[in-house]
Amino acid sequence: MEMNRRDFVRTTVGASLAAAAPRTLLAQAPNVMTPKTTNPVVIASANGNKFKNGGDMTCVHKAWTMMTQGGDVLDALIAGVNIVELDPLDTSVGYGGLPNADGVVQLDSCCMHGPKKRAGGVACIEGVRTPSNVAQKVMETTDHHLIVGQGAQRFARSIGFKIEDDLNTEESRRLWLDWKRRIDPEHYLDPEKRVEAGHRAMMAMVAEGLIDRQHIHGTINCNGLNAQGEICGITTTSGLAWKIPGRVGDSPILGAGLYVDGDVGAAGSTGRGEANLYGLCSFLIVENMRRGMHPKDAGLDACRRIKANTIEKRLLNSRGDPNFNVNFYMLNRKGEFAGVALYPESSFAVCTEDGPKTVVSEPLLQGKPTD
Ligand code: GLY
Repeated sequence: MEMNRRDFVRTTVGASLAAAAPRTLLAQAPNVMTPKTTNPVVIASANGNKFKNGGDMTCVHKAWTMMTQGGDVLDALIAGVNIVELDPLDTSVGYGGLPNADGVVQLDSCCMHGPKKRAGGVACIEGVRTPSNVAQKVMETTDHHLIVGQGAQRFARSIGFKIEDDLNTEESRRLWLDWKRRIDPEHYLDPEKRVEAGHRAMMAMVAEGLIDRQHIHGTINCNGLNAQGEICGITTTSGLAWKIPGRVGDSPILGAGLYVDGDVGAAGSTGRGEANLYGLCSFLIVENMRRGMHPKDAGLDACRRIKANTIEKRLLNSRGDPNFNVNFYMLNRKGEFAGVALYPESSFAVCTEDGPKTVVSEPLLQGKPTD
């Protein structure tokens, strides 16, 4: 269900009536005050309330249902994002994600478990449709936080994951071939010109409606809080479309694509990973919430940080603002939540006892990234 801006204001005011008064108190308090029980909530990027993979529930709905039936929060979130990873219609995550410049689908994911204070991730993994499950196994069965490339695939194979030769769908391969046709077919351009040519080809494909702009850096982040105040998060992606093979963005990096502190809250991101990595913004947001900021203010502060750190001309539009978008999704231990973005026309998914909804995110800037 889409909501307009007025509904959004009403929702956030309604959802956080308790927030108004405590916020003044929190400004003086070093830690977020935690009630004994909270209203369960699951928040995600907008694709978390769009794709169903042929079933009857979206990611946030599934996760909320499992969580409120007593399932572990992280197990519930991963069951939710599995729907999007497996759905070939989302070309930004898992199976059918847009491939790298060589036409190979390489996936990234990380997860954090608030109560257990444990985390795990994989990057550049090939051949496994649901990297989120492998990230969880890294967390549960190893002493490590991040396993990458062939090592990640070997780890997955060793613990029983099915390894497939190719995660492309007909659609993702067709789009890759279209992109490839538009740039120097031999890739003999000098590296700078090749990057420019690749970017130009991609933006032309967006303009022609072949690729959803959101799927260039498309990702799903999903965070949940249960009635006992337990918080977890997961982020999973196929990363930047047509990336240089081996490129890793923000999604599998703890503190960038995801950060959870079980005593404070969770934050995650979608959008241009390089901009988020530079400021480790999910960590920044959780630290802001620890100091008492409301999730929305904490997220907008991260957007401001990204704007301040974006100074290269090639990354600026005619107004001198970033020419890309980044979104953040956050919730705190009181059950307050928000979605924010650099630019308008961004939204996020949320599920509470009122059911799953798609809600307009709060933008930092006006206009469009590329104007
Ligand atoms: N945020 C996803 C990526 O940049 O890879």
